[in-house]
Amino acid sequence: MKNFTKRYVSLLTKLSILTLFHFTFSDGSPKPYTPHDNIALDCGSTANKTDLSGRSWTADNTIYLDHSDKVSFISTSPTEGNPIPYATARLSRSQFTYSFSVTPGPKFIRLHFYPTSYQELDRSNSFFDVHVGGGYTLLRNFSAAFTADDLKLEVFYLEFCIYVDGKLDMLFSPSPNMLDSYAFVNGIEIMSMPDNLYYTSDDDTGFEFVNEVNPYRILKNQALQTLYRVNVGGSSISPEDDTGMDRSWFEDGEYLTNGGPSVLPVNISINPRFSVIPNYSAPTPVYKTARTMGTDKTVNENYKLTWEFRVDVGFTYYVRLHFCEFQGEISEPGDRVFQIYIDNIVAERQADVISWAGGSGVPVYRDYAAMIGRAGKEMERNLSIAVHPAPAWRTKYSDAILNGVEIFKLSNEGNLAGSNPQGTHISPPIKSLPSTRPKYKIRTTFLIVVGIVSAFVAVSALYILILRPKSRVEGSPSWYELSNKDYSSVDRSGKVCTSDGKHSKDTKECDIL
Ligand SMILES: *[C@@H]1O[C@H](CO)[C@@H](O)[C@H](O)[C@H]1NC(C)=O
Ligand SMILES: *[C@@H]1O[C@H](CO)[C@@H](O)[C@H](O)[C@H]1NC(C)=O
Ligand SMILES: *[C@@H]1O[C@H](CO)[C@@H](O)[C@H](O)[C@H]1NC(C)=O
Ligand SMILES: *[C@@H]1O[C@H](CO)[C@@H](O)[C@H](O)[C@H]1NC(C)=O
Ligand SMILES: *[C@@H]1O[C@H](CO)[C@@H](O)[C@H](O)[C@H]1NC(C)=O
Repeated sequence: MKNFTKRYVSLLTKLSILTLFHFTFSDGSPKPYTPHDNIALDCGSTANKTDLSGRSWTADNTIYLDHSDKVSFISTSPTEGNPIPYATARLSRSQFTYSFSVTPGPKFIRLHFYPTSYQELDRSNSFFDVHVGGGYTLLRNFSAAFTADDLKLEVFYLEFCIYVDGKLDMLFSPSPNMLDSYAFVNGIEIMSMPDNLYYTSDDDTGFEFVNEVNPYRILKNQALQTLYRVNVGGSSISPEDDTGMDRSWFEDGEYLTNGGPSVLPVNISINPRFSVIPNYSAPTPVYKTARTMGTDKTVNENYKLTWEFRVDVGFTYYVRLHFCEFQGEISEPGDRVFQIYIDNIVAERQADVISWAGGSGVPVYRDYAAMIGRAGKEMERNLSIAVHPAPAWRTKYSDAILNGVEIFKLSNEGNLAGSNPQGTHISPPIKSLPSTRPKYKIRTTFLIVVGIVSAFVAVSALYILILRPKSRVEGSPSWYELSNKDYSSVDRSGKVCTSDGKHSKDTKECDIL
């Protein structure tokens, strides 16, 4: 429990300027998307409940659960005060089934787990499969305890995407031939998503399949598991600040390799114009922050800005990269052209966000698929995503940019299950984090941080507005020769820094990764 409080607090202190602004300005405004089906089941609970974020969770004994199965029973977790849905579990030594009636279409399925020793049952004895009618295996011989230990988390959830034809049966089956094995689940969410958010529409020819000749298409008979959803260069975004689908977005720092420097540009004044992709694609903060390579052309030409994500071998992965150019200097096609590598293979030779988007401040995303084959005995390896400047004659500035990443594992003949522990790194939603601190304390901290940061941003914005040169010097070979006030960024400590890597308020070096 202590751990959680600590995580929660450190998360709050890490919140960047942007998220704070987002929180303060977008509260209560309509979401770009409203899911038609939105089921949140509090498994094992006898009463409907509301969580800290105000979401209602339905008790699972009233509907959905297959009552013919007499063996399953309810258990209350020993840790009192755990928020919904982790305080209760549905648990059984034999198979149990949930049946849902939903509208046909693609759905998010989120399974919430709090592996603890319920009553007399040892937490490390639980191994089970989760199957969904239609022939999908989401989990096989799955240990929530091993997974939680691997993630160093007390509670976590897994997210899947499945195209449902109207009826959804979900089977929890304890692994056979194992003494004392049992299956359990604390919470289940089923939520509609827009038809072609991730599934390829019928009239779409597909996207780049790295290292293969034919393009890739996400078909309705494929199940997906979300492994990573990252707001590059920005801070975590909680489910309630998503575009209406309750997705969580996490920071990118822990996935970045130490190959070279990077900076975190930010433009709080832009209001992204969704003229190319739908406005529900990702929350706007994703498009207001990014990571770029820095201002040294020579350095940039000699390294790749690289992120690495642990995945199971033997599966194809679906990678979505989000982009938005928002720096004043980058306004024309050809200004910033770069290469994209996925799993060390060129996936894009001339990425030019301005020409994809048709202008500055317009978000776009690009999809890729990559097969991560088996090599040797390793069950897991890293999937890398890297960016690198295009040859100097092709690009005005030798740099590269990335705003967001989503990575999904794609089912292999209906199967998504890997080895134990699963290569899953989706952390618990912020709204579900247990908190032993009184709520007002967190709120106070939060408000104080907002206050200080707002004042600081106001001052910095003024500074940037007044001192920024009005236009680029004609014929200038590169922005790196311009004044250090020509663009701003926020470093890891949340301070605004200028292009020479100094904080605008003092001369200390920016804490650039
Ligand atoms: C999102 O886009 C749709 C369709 O273009 C529009 O009707 C809606 O108002 C937009 N929602 C928000 C919150 O911007
Ligand atoms: C809980 O909510 C569900 C669906 O909203 C409703 O059908 C059920 O009657 C409620 N149960 C209780 C005990 O209030
Ligand atoms: C399930 O996993 C455990 C631990 O990894 C292993 O000991 C056991 O043999 C596995 N059971 C099955 C049925 O695969
Ligand atoms: C794989 O990536 C992780 C970060 O996601 C990193 O900590 C780890 O060192 C990488 N492992 C290898 C073998 O490169
Ligand atoms: C922020 O974006 C706006 C709109 O694209 C642009 O006019 C402005 O120059 C940008 N600000 C900075 C500091 O790059």
